[in-house]
Amino acid sequence: MKAIGPQGWGHRWILSLIVAATFCAVAGLPLQATEIASPVVEEANPAKVAPFNPAAADHGAEVQRLLAAMSLDEKIGQMCQVWPETGELTPVIQESLRNGEVGSLINCASPELIAEAQRLVREESRLGVPLLIGRDVVHGYRTIFPIPLGQAASWNPKLVERSAAIAADEARSQGVNWTFAPMVDVCRDPRWGRIAETLGEDPYLSGELAAGMVRGFQQERGGQLHGLLACAKHFAAYGLSEGGRDYNRTSLSIADLHNIHLPSFRAAVDAGCRTLMTTFSEVNGIPGTAHAYLLQEVLRDGWQFSGVVVSDWNSVIEMVAHGYSADEAEAAKQAVNAGVHMEMVSPTFHEHLARLVEQGAVEEAAINEAVRRILRLKLQLAARQEEAAKPGDAAAATSELLRPRSLELARRAARESIVLLKNGNNTLPLQRDKLRNVAVIGPLADAPLSQLGCWAVDGRAEDSITPLDALREALGETAEVVYARGVATTYSNEAQDFTDATRVAADADVVLLFVGEDAVLSGEARSRSTLDLPGVQSELVKAVAAAGKPIVMVVLAGRPLAIGAECDAADAVLYAWHPGTMGGPAITDLLLGAASPSGKLPVTFPKHVGQVPLYYGHSNTGRPSPADFRPLTQSQGKDLPIQFQYRSHYVDGDPFPLFPFGYGLSYTTFAYDGFELSAPSIEPRQTLAVRARVTNSGSRAGVEVAQLYVRDLAASLVRPVRELKAFRRVYLRPGESQPVEFTLDADDLRFFNNEGRSVLEPGRFAVWIGGDSTATLGGEFELSGEESAEETPAVARVPKQDEPAESSVPQQPVRVDNGT
Ligand code: NOJ
Repeated sequence: MKAIGPQGWGHRWILSLIVAATFCAVAGLPLQATEIASPVVEEANPAKVAPFNPAAADHGAEVQRLLAAMSLDEKIGQMCQVWPETGELTPVIQESLRNGEVGSLINCASPELIAEAQRLVREESRLGVPLLIGRDVVHGYRTIFPIPLGQAASWNPKLVERSAAIAADEARSQGVNWTFAPMVDVCRDPRWGRIAETLGEDPYLSGELAAGMVRGFQQERGGQLHGLLACAKHFAAYGLSEGGRDYNRTSLSIADLHNIHLPSFRAAVDAGCRTLMTTFSEVNGIPGTAHAYLLQEVLRDGWQFSGVVVSDWNSVIEMVAHGYSADEAEAAKQAVNAGVHMEMVSPTFHEHLARLVEQGAVEEAAINEAVRRILRLKLQLAARQEEAAKPGDAAAATSELLRPRSLELARRAARESIVLLKNGNNTLPLQRDKLRNVAVIGPLADAPLSQLGCWAVDGRAEDSITPLDALREALGETAEVVYARGVATTYSNEAQDFTDATRVAADADVVLLFVGEDAVLSGEARSRSTLDLPGVQSELVKAVAAAGKPIVMVVLAGRPLAIGAECDAADAVLYAWHPGTMGGPAITDLLLGAASPSGKLPVTFPKHVGQVPLYYGHSNTGRPSPADFRPLTQSQGKDLPIQFQYRSHYVDGDPFPLFPFGYGLSYTTFAYDGFELSAPSIEPRQTLAVRARVTNSGSRAGVEVAQLYVRDLAASLVRPVRELKAFRRVYLRPGESQPVEFTLDADDLRFFNNEGRSVLEPGRFAVWIGGDSTATLGGEFELSGEESAEETPAVARVPKQDEPAESSVPQQPVRVDNGT
């Protein structure tokens, strides 16, 4: 293998040379430069071969042809993803590209750099294999959509799909062909900063939305990808990081792994997701990047996943720090032998794999398998890749960005993501004709960068329309819009003078108070130890409330916050997450009633950080807390009343949420009745229709998200008190009723046991339909009859994902239409 690797690796090589030279000098030994520089000296196959053929009709044959022509070094090169850290293609990287030592680049600074890198490999490398160009296009490229947790609040997979498609179109126009999204980790701990990137706490909702994102990002038609490669991450159970602290260990039962943390990955894979990223964290003691059970038994053998597994940033090398690998060579060996096909950023594959193969510690068959998978993806992208590789037509590329229709969709996505948590006295929508003086207060009313959220690498503050901008635009002619920031940042704990804020509040007809978290408080490595409104914002809320004017609190944040007291102080509360580029207009649409809120919480809101983890699908326990429980701290007596003793709660707090999963109000109201089951019992392989009628009982049109929950009343493993099984968005005019019917398949009642086996057990089930996870309208049915032993699948129950790439990937049967 060539001595000098890409940028970063070159530094390491030079460093090791210096260290070795020093050591040799001190020890009086002769320095064998080639031993350090070149672990295995293998001449590249000099034979002239036809380069990568992007138009190859038979992908399988083309992959075989290339593989046969490749030297071991060229194969290993395909497995290496390099970061042009300086923002340039340094001479070292250029040389590596020419030598076929790089399969992918990450975080390239510009479309020009990408075009030049693709030109280099195409025209100057022996086999001309194009590069995968990876980037975190997570919730938008230049047009930034709400953070994924916000998008999840739309409960609208179609909308999520369309948003991802816009992001893909924009990114592709700049030469990117691989996004590291969707993040499908299920998370039940809002302290973890990355909850912002998740699709919430529920495996089913996360899976439905993840599938939508995959379809939108990839835009697969006839086996060709017209968008980007999607990447479901971080495999697996990263969302369970202990204490909510990023990168921390996770420890869980096999049943929980399969029932809670794997279904969203499964849904992404079934939707055709071509790549997966391993988790940084250890899962039951084994780092995700070397987890053979996850990568082989579950993913490769169980799900028949035929795409590419990429490690996370430096996660191969970090297995040494974890205390799992003795050194970097062992880390490389463990990762490849477990089933990692490409190494992100750290250079252990480049530095050690050839020698490991020579020593027999890694089989060349494993390398061949990885390269086969990588080449297949490159062929599936080839038509688009060619386009991107052409010398950039800068004007055409720029015209893809921030198109009016993209901005309009971003506005709709933000609107549908916002959740109305409270609307006392029907404060909202505001009556525009009664407004003369509107106070806009708070650190997030005019925070163009923060409203973009945590994964907006290509988003720009100057593209954002803030709430202040949008309100001035909407109201400027009829009312005075007066702004006071109140506090400098959301997180500073320094005492502040609220005089400006209280003065504008005192003069106003209504106060619009924009509080929450700046974007830097959520995302990767942005865990929090509390869930309070950070900094001195609670004092700001109190000070402003003292003015006695109607207050609409709008919260922009990357996680659920424990804001009970602040909600009490406000008349109405909108939870807007980080809403993206068009956050201002979307919020204004709702404030002024141009649209009615329809968002529903994809995650439970705790009252206090001490309740975490708090989620709707919990176990009942043998001693559940009575619904009327009051903690000792709220009692006059010497101890808890007898009926509250020895129950599952806190002496100083109850175990109930501030707002439950699935909750969200509208400007109208909805009522459910007419619950009905198509049969009192079903057998395996049968279906059950579950029906109810939903009525718009208010005076405005609106969208309700009808939700179906199930409980397995007695099972060989304790099952959650509720599990979401289906949902549907229903648009209703005032007074209108509509039947909603969900089809429950007996297979929906399966769960995984602690052998990782999917089981279907006869018994009684409760079922509910309603507008959130506390729905009370429901009934019971029986699942009778055993399934035969052959029918019991192990980790997988969906047919093999076909190869070659042109084949269609099997989809889960579509049971409900979640589009609008
Ligand atoms: C580390 C993050 O964990 C991952 O989500 C991201 O895709 C990579 N860095 C690349 O930026």
